[in-house]
Amino acid sequence: MYENILLDIRGRVAVLTVNRPNKLNALNIATRSEIIAALDSLRANDEVRVLVVTGAGEKAFIAGADITEFAGRTALEQREVMLAKRMFDAFEEFPKPVIAMINGFCLGGGCEVALSCDIRIASENAQFGQPEIKLGIIPGGGGTQRLTRLIGEGKAMELILTGDMIKAEEAKALGLVNHVYPQSELEARTMELANRIAEMSPIALRMAKEAVKSAARLTLREGLEREIDLFALCFSSQDKEEGVKAFLEKRKPQFIGK
Ligand code: COA
Repeated sequence: MYENILLDIRGRVAVLTVNRPNKLNALNIATRSEIIAALDSLRANDEVRVLVVTGAGEKAFIAGADITEFAGRTALEQREVMLAKRMFDAFEEFPKPVIAMINGFCLGGGCEVALSCDIRIASENAQFGQPEIKLGIIPGGGGTQRLTRLIGEGKAMELILTGDMIKAEEAKALGLVNHVYPQSELEARTMELANRIAEMSPIALRMAKEAVKSAARLTLREGLEREIDLFALCFSSQDKEEGVKAFLEKRKPQFIGK
């Protein structure tokens, strides 16, 4: 069904793999369209509660936009490409948790995909950067905004102005990734985390994601009010009754997503 991505549904966790290993999983227009279509199909699939995003092979997560498509493209053409379907927003606005499993080069648009995800887990060989400046352009998939919000202006500015790459441990020290594991353990550790999150109520997960995401958009006062609304909304779910009951009965809850 897809030519540039693989979609593997493993119980409650879907794994979306960008599958152009010979091009270090660079994102061409066709791949972006397939990712957006896959996100649409997964959004409607109630069985899937968590999404993991990764790249094929052992070398790259995603080495950025496909640079070959930039050659000769005009400003207006590029604007159309970027406005037509905002893949990065689709990850950020996906109503279920999204974990980036970063197994190698995570550059440019690849770093911006990771930044649009909710949690980032990297292998020791992963390298991060926004190298657009070296091409005479700037990050255009949200990098100047999301990287700055995540790691602060000073470090984001240095990475974006130099185009330098940093290793996984430094990315962890900056708060760009949550955990770093040997490549041989990356998948098992990421799936373990994904499955643990997938056991929670999907309604509560959705409310939690929305509440945390609103922190970047709203003032503190507005955000605290939004949190109260989303918290109260959880009380309309059967899952909240089940969670509380299970605690009182000293058993594990069985959340049904209602
Ligand atoms: N767009 C298109 N093709 C890309 C690519 C990209 N962003 N990144 C890598 N590739 C291709 C290479 O052209 C090469 O293709 P070829 O075998 O047909 O020549 C293949 O992927 C393997 O990459 P290669 O450069 O040979 O690997 P390397 O280990 O020597 O270097 C990188 C790895 C990541 C340092 C290097 O590929 C690179 O700098 N890529 C571009 C990163 C970038 O600027 N991204 C932001 C774009 S806005």
